[in-house]
Amino acid sequence: MERRDALKSLAMVAGSLTFSNKALHAFEPGRKDRKVLTVAHITDVHIRPDYDAPNRFKNCLKQIVKHHQPDFFLNGGDSIYDASYNSVVRERVHELWNIWDDCWKSLNKKYDIYSCIGNHDPWWKAPDKDDEMYGKPYVGKRLNMPDRYFRAQKGNWHFIILDGNNKGIMLDEEQLLWLEKELTQIPADHYVALMSHYPVLSATVQLQGGGHSDFRQLKDLFYKHRDKVRLFLSGHNHLLDETVYNKVTYCSTGAVSGYWWEDGDKESAGHSWFKQTPPGYTILKLHPNGIVEHTYHAHGF
Ligand SMILES: [Fe+2]
Ligand SMILES: [Fe+2]
Repeated sequence: MERRDALKSLAMVAGSLTFSNKALHAFEPGRKDRKVLTVAHITDVHIRPDYDAPNRFKNCLKQIVKHHQPDFFLNGGDSIYDASYNSVVRERVHELWNIWDDCWKSLNKKYDIYSCIGNHDPWWKAPDKDDEMYGKPYVGKRLNMPDRYFRAQKGNWHFIILDGNNKGIMLDEEQLLWLEKELTQIPADHYVALMSHYPVLSATVQLQGGGHSDFRQLKDLFYKHRDKVRLFLSGHNHLLDETVYNKVTYCSTGAVSGYWWEDGDKESAGHSWFKQTPPGYTILKLHPNGIVEHTYHAHGF
């Protein structure tokens, strides 16, 4: 055993085993179940009834399953075309989420899907705040989220799903404290992939805007836990970009919907592309030793 591994083992023994109730799974300290995880990261599906989007999304899911056999999915938000515009009525919100469910049912197998909330998902124009379809809780219900932010675990990898949908695009204080605690409590030879709808470090923020305003604070927090934090996934800008900083890989990925399923505009490099990014998804290979491989795949239209 190399010295680095030996130190990590000692740290694991010394690590705390008290965890938040937002964890979906208990820690599994044994090594026998550790394997390379294959994870499909999709984001910005913006599902809608027109532009043949349901069939195109079903074909995308089929392509993912057929070619990559993922262990599970990460869904980065903006799952439905939009519930946030002022003109959206209740029936439209139902319609969009029902199409979302129908698309997933087209797969032969039920997969775990860990989702975060995008800015287009919540319905803010519900008649009042007590309406069961108002805001983020209803999105969480439709996406089977245990809370608006949470942690899930597969082997020695931890998936921390964040909610950046707060004023200023940032984590609220309660969430930040929770994240700091989670990162501290995760054992030393375990690894962390985080996902928010919005990028933290990314060239797409220069091009489009729409990144976490608390990026400096998050970058420092990840540096503090640099032996664990390996990956940060985001969407929102529909553009593909990779930034590596302090050994954390920040993947800002293209949208499944590309140009919201529409043909595109004069800046589109191809059909339904958003600027120079084709519609697509990312396949992650997450190794038990913390190594991350990620590949963006365009999906057929
Ligand atoms: Fe989007
Ligand atoms: Fe978005």
